[in-house]
Amino acid sequence: MCGIIGICAIKRNVAPMISLGLKRLEYRGYDSVGVALVLNESRVHVLKARGDVDSFLSRFKVSEFKAYTGLGHTRWATHGAPSDVNAHPHTDCSGRIAVVHNGVIRNFSIIKSILEVRGHRITSETDTELIAHLIEDEIPFSSNFFEAFIRAISRLEGSYALAIINSSEPNKVYFARLKSPLVLGLGDGFNIIASDIPAVIEYTRRVLTLEDGEVGWITPTEVKLFKLTDDGIAEVKYESIMSRVRFIEWSFEEATRLGYPHFMLKEIVEQPNAIKSTYDGNIDDPIVKLAASLLNEANHIVLVGAGTSYHASLIISYFLSKIAKIKSTPLIASEYKVVEDSISREDVILAVSQSGETYDTLEAIRAFKSRGAKVIGITNVVGSALSRESDIAIYMRCGPEIGVAATKTYTSQIMVGSILAIYSAIENKSLDNSSTRNLIDDLSKASDILGLSIKTSLSILNDSPLRGIKSMYILGRGLGSMIAKEASLKVKEIAYIHAESYPAGESKHGPIALVEEKFPVYFIATSDSLEIIGNIMEMASRGASIVVVKPENVNLNISSSHSINVVDMPPVNSLLLEPYTLIPYFQLLAYKEAVARGYNPDKPRNLAKTVTVE
Ligand code: F6R
Repeated sequence: MCGIIGICAIKRNVAPMISLGLKRLEYRGYDSVGVALVLNESRVHVLKARGDVDSFLSRFKVSEFKAYTGLGHTRWATHGAPSDVNAHPHTDCSGRIAVVHNGVIRNFSIIKSILEVRGHRITSETDTELIAHLIEDEIPFSSNFFEAFIRAISRLEGSYALAIINSSEPNKVYFARLKSPLVLGLGDGFNIIASDIPAVIEYTRRVLTLEDGEVGWITPTEVKLFKLTDDGIAEVKYESIMSRVRFIEWSFEEATRLGYPHFMLKEIVEQPNAIKSTYDGNIDDPIVKLAASLLNEANHIVLVGAGTSYHASLIISYFLSKIAKIKSTPLIASEYKVVEDSISREDVILAVSQSGETYDTLEAIRAFKSRGAKVIGITNVVGSALSRESDIAIYMRCGPEIGVAATKTYTSQIMVGSILAIYSAIENKSLDNSSTRNLIDDLSKASDILGLSIKTSLSILNDSPLRGIKSMYILGRGLGSMIAKEASLKVKEIAYIHAESYPAGESKHGPIALVEEKFPVYFIATSDSLEIIGNIMEMASRGASIVVVKPENVNLNISSSHSINVVDMPPVNSLLLEPYTLIPYFQLLAYKEAVARGYNPDKPRNLAKTVTVE
């Protein structure tokens, strides 16, 4: 999982454009960085190093180079450790061909042995370098570079988004896409190929999302696009390319920090607006109603998602049951094989993915689709693989999320799922008109509740709320146990604290053995599970240091004989609203502690925003 960019231009230096593009793509990976520039026709000039984009750009003074064609790459290591030599771009033996790649080549060992036997000097441990050598290897058997490129990629198994330059054709960037995202930005006197839209919108808002099996090249003034099929290669007509060009309306400012120290904080604070946009965009959308009918027709419903999206799926599944009396099974996407054999054409898969590009989630839906199941996708990214491969795509419409840790997209996913549950209940008549109106009215208050909750949390959380803590439990029951899973993921992934979450009723079946004097335990108490008081008391009796976070109007009758810290969040009159009053506290708890410990919450170690690998 990496970010790639390739630009060619007339009368415009691409070096600063690539530099900025790399900054915008850094969320996709940041363990090493590189650029390749065509400075003359004899070879490609490559600069690359382990480390992040800022250090790379200042160390190599990239913007001071002058070139009309070039590539950039920011890496999240898969094959080969993060190192200078494994950083992209990679070149062939002659140094004339440079490649940047996002994806994984599965048959790389066999290709490597073949290339070595044929005398190629492979210098890195990466699968990507092989692509440069494969093209070089095919050149003698091909009538031109493009043919050699096609012959080379036809030998690859796995996934790739590729951008390639060749110093003999100084004004062209070749590209190809299979199972890894790639967009084309069409400019005036330049064209850009990149992994994602933020890398291009500084320069152009005319964007086209490429599809699997598409290959081609850009020059400063032309785009050539072809589709690879089992029967060969077919050119995509100019009119058809143009009909797919979208004008990106979201502003670049929406994708930047706007003065906040971190994207994560900005995205937590903008949740009231984000959720409002999700609500407004979906509450009357016929697509959501169509999805609700499909859910009602299903024999069985499986929800799939990874990480935070899985945690949102748990809540969506709960609301489908509570509101619409519909049974569903939430599943971690990478574990889809657990139910695969029982899936049939009567079943519906509800896939939840912010990016719409998560490998595990896509693999799951592809496996289920091949057994005839229908797919409803909930995603934030129009044109993403999930949106294209779903029978029905519902959009979260909460604006781009740049911080690696998901925050606003979590609350937005829950909102979409809640609307879906309400429409499913209308469809199967498990709700009468007045209850429906009440629930819709409740949801319309989510934005205000989020705003109040953020304000309350900011006023009570100090700068290092988890000072000195190495390990902790975050527990809940019912809805609270699902929110606790997300809360503990946030604390783990950005503050690097071991925060374990399990349903509070399980303590006595094992985990309470770890509890000793002052062991930190957070409880999330929700109105559906007041019996949590018993679990709080059993921890308190063993000397745990307890914090109970709950909506103010959830009354637990906590005995004053134990010193339990109770954090009251804004009151809400509906279970549907409880996630919005409770989660900001934990998002901000994790954020503040990460900053206090000197970690950058926008770049958690070992993680990347979009996980396009197995
Ligand atoms: C955690 C986080 C990840 C993602 C997961 C799925 O903060 O961001 O756990 O939720 O990688 O990503 P999407 O939603 O893009 O499928």
